Amino acid sequence: MKVLSVGSEIYPLVKTGGLADVLGALPAALAAEGIETRTLVPGYPAVMAALDRAETVVELPDLFGGEAKILAAASAGLPLFVLDAPHLYARPGNPYADASGYDWADNGLRFAALARAAAEIGNGALEGFRPDIVHAHDWQAGLAPAYLHYAGGQRPRTVMTIHNLAYQGQFPAYLMGFLGLPPESYAMEGVEYYQSVGYLKAGLQFADAITTVSPSYAAELQTEAGGMGLTGLFRRRSAFLHGILNGIDTGIWNPERDSLIAARFATENLPARRENKAALQRRLGLAPEPETLLFAVVSRLAWQKGLDLLHDVLPVLEEMGAQLAVLGSGEAALEAAYLAAARARPERIACVIGFDEELAHLMQAGADAVLVPSRFEPCGLTQMIAQRYGAVPVVARVGGLADTVIDANEIALDAHAATGVQFAPVAAEMLAIALNRTARLWKDREAWRRMQRNGMKADFSWARPARHYAELYRGLLA
Ligand code: ADP
Ligand code: GLC
Repeated sequence: MKVLSVGSEIYPLVKTGGLADVLGALPAALAAEGIETRTLVPGYPAVMAALDRAETVVELPDLFGGEAKILAAASAGLPLFVLDAPHLYARPGNPYADASGYDWADNGLRFAALARAAAEIGNGALEGFRPDIVHAHDWQAGLAPAYLHYAGGQRPRTVMTIHNLAYQGQFPAYLMGFLGLPPESYAMEGVEYYQSVGYLKAGLQFADAITTVSPSYAAELQTEAGGMGLTGLFRRRSAFLHGILNGIDTGIWNPERDSLIAARFATENLPARRENKAALQRRLGLAPEPETLLFAVVSRLAWQKGLDLLHDVLPVLEEMGAQLAVLGSGEAALEAAYLAAARARPERIACVIGFDEELAHLMQAGADAVLVPSRFEPCGLTQMIAQRYGAVPVVARVGGLADTVIDANEIALDAHAATGVQFAPVAAEMLAIALNRTARLWKDREAWRRMQRNGMKADFSWARPARHYAELYRGLLA
């Protein structure tokens, strides 16, 4: 079986969040299921610079006003198709926005182009690679199922995966004049979405199957609040909607072999973690106290992540005598708020603004607990990484966080099954209570150790998710 995976980020070439991790790791796991995956990504400068053996396989003389090519290439061991379209992608920095943080004005065309290239390959433009399945990820690839639908003929089956419903790719209706979709597609049963063109909506409407990245989030999508404007569609297509939990790349995230941390460790030598905690405290200028409960946050600083709630309860952390290390970037107000908190209490609170892969590893290896107070979370990878690294996750009971953390309630503690702390509803008061529960558990060293070990033993690899995707693909082809 051949799968064309389509998306706008792929680790390690271009990453702003977990989407890149998924596109980078899933193909290898699918290979173990006998599925050959190739990934189509935009030719951003960072991608173009990282290609080995690039070869032009399709010429597109006029793709929205410029010349483009589809290249077949490899990079970091990943088989890729790259849409080389300099007029759309040869721009520095972030894939979606300019240096001042404004979305590129032509994003509608930039990602329609990606979907069109996917449809070309899907429709057999390439002798050597005719996909059975075209798998589109998030709004940037959302038009691919629509293009394939309207092309007619013997098309591949399509899958649309939602990683983040907060970004839907909604563009003005006048784009219909350029997209190359038939005029009748601008309808409720087509690509129209609240008087605009909805890229994610289009994908959800036309894909043969819809998936999202956890079972709980698949259920939340069908609720009024969770559906974010698309509830009706999710309810109508409920039979085609599947929740498949993400995995993590257990090769990259392996505390026994990680070269980015101060001391490697396993379940049998958990005390070696202390060196990482000391290294982290040193690096961030926190007081070098081994017995102080150290919380960490590694996150985009966005409304979704609930970090304003955490900021509201900083006095609770202070009262507990705990420490907090924050690594993240995003909304200016949140960045400023955490920087100010760190300036006021440098021995207790540290804040690093930016995207720092290496520090992320040290934080996971050195922190005692990792906080993820998200308002909604399709899956979340940081809480799984935390468990693999023996850091106890403290999470909101939503989406994938609900599905991947076993709350330390009395029953779970008795059964030696707990791996972390959950709270609900997502509100500052409840987060404060969760922090206090965590502090109480921290004092019970035996219980804490057990939670660490339970988390480290859990299987968060891509093996199980890959089996589910393989089953889904096979079902679509049957
Ligand atoms: P999301 O995709 O919503 O941002 P996930 O938890 O699914 O959240 O994935 C986040 C990924 O990005 C993880 O691999 C995490 O380690 C990484 N990450 C997030 N923020 C940073 C940062 N500031 N520096 C380094 N890595 C980060
Ligand atoms: C999104 C979601 C996150 C998920 C990731 C990968 O960015 O916010 O919950 O883990 O995609 O699927």
